[in-house]
Amino acid sequence: MVVGNRSAQGRHAAGNLMKILAPTYESILYAARALREGKLVGLPTETVYGIAADATNRSAILETFRLKRRPAENPLIVHVASLDAARSLVRSLPEAAEGLAESFWPGPLTLVLPKADCIPPEATGGLDTVAIRVPRSPEALSILREAAMAVTAPSANAFMSLSPTRAEHISLEILAGLECVIDGGPCEFGVESTVVDCCGPTPTILRPGGIPRSRIASVLGIEIAVVESAEHRSPGAYKRHYAPRTPVRLVEKLGPRDAGIGFGEPQNGSQIQLPSEPAGYARRLYAALYELDRLNLPAISIERPPDTEEWEAVRDRLTKAVHG
Ligand code: TXA
Ligand code: MG
Repeated sequence: MVVGNRSAQGRHAAGNLMKILAPTYESILYAARALREGKLVGLPTETVYGIAADATNRSAILETFRLKRRPAENPLIVHVASLDAARSLVRSLPEAAEGLAESFWPGPLTLVLPKADCIPPEATGGLDTVAIRVPRSPEALSILREAAMAVTAPSANAFMSLSPTRAEHISLEILAGLECVIDGGPCEFGVESTVVDCCGPTPTILRPGGIPRSRIASVLGIEIAVVESAEHRSPGAYKRHYAPRTPVRLVEKLGPRDAGIGFGEPQNGSQIQLPSEPAGYARRLYAALYELDRLNLPAISIERPPDTEEWEAVRDRLTKAVHG
């Protein structure tokens, strides 16, 4: 009986794993057709994998929230293939936003803008604004072009857990709700997009991410602040987020018996060395946390990264993992 159950579970898991498709022209057409039919698709972006759905289809959006177990007031990011496609989703495009879009799209930058009526309130948690980005992964762009639609895509993890940066890190629970996942390989950035609110008199950063603050400031020609407690402005910016199941703590230096992530040579089999420059570190952070989480350790220790601006996105994710 137990054996029977196990093999049934095994078949179930194998069936879900077969949904992960190599990024061929046929599989991209298949994914685009599924989106047009209101189904959910695993989307490889340059930041993390997302759960894509037609941004104008209320039932597909509600299914996205159900699958992620995400609170309804936590708004989604709408993904489009071009700045022109973004124009039709907003009531206005402030000059600063247009400059940022021209500089960083396609890429890991999300702009919060006044929402047009074509985006249903279910997608934006009832807000009158919509977050939009043009991803730069070639597979994501091909899917968006073939589907010829705007697509909501939150990270492909259950609410408050680790975002997947490889197709095989998407949980079986999430896979079960997807028609397919297009496997774009390991994500280029490994942390989510930078979210910039462009609705006020001066743009502010609601979530540090793939594009560093200094690059945004140099395009704007003015300093840009990270809004300290973004919890009320960006409902997704909860203090606990991006957390593995294992408790995480930040340390100055890993001890010889600690399990975790450090900058130096590993001192035991449960230590992972990450690069000492922020882009390389960010690219591998979630995958490293994913690997350590599988070891069922009592705790994961992580060496504190430098306190400089270029490490802002990494520090933000680590702080949120600690609050887990
Ligand atoms: O890199 C990314 O942005 C990935 C990939 C898949 O594109 N997506 C992603 O989505 O990180 P998600 O749903 O995990 O995070 C969306 C963030 C949340 O912090 C949410 O609160 C914020 O964007 N957001 C979305 N719409 C917003 C709005 N109208 N106003 C303020 N914040 C918004
Ligand atoms: Mg997320």
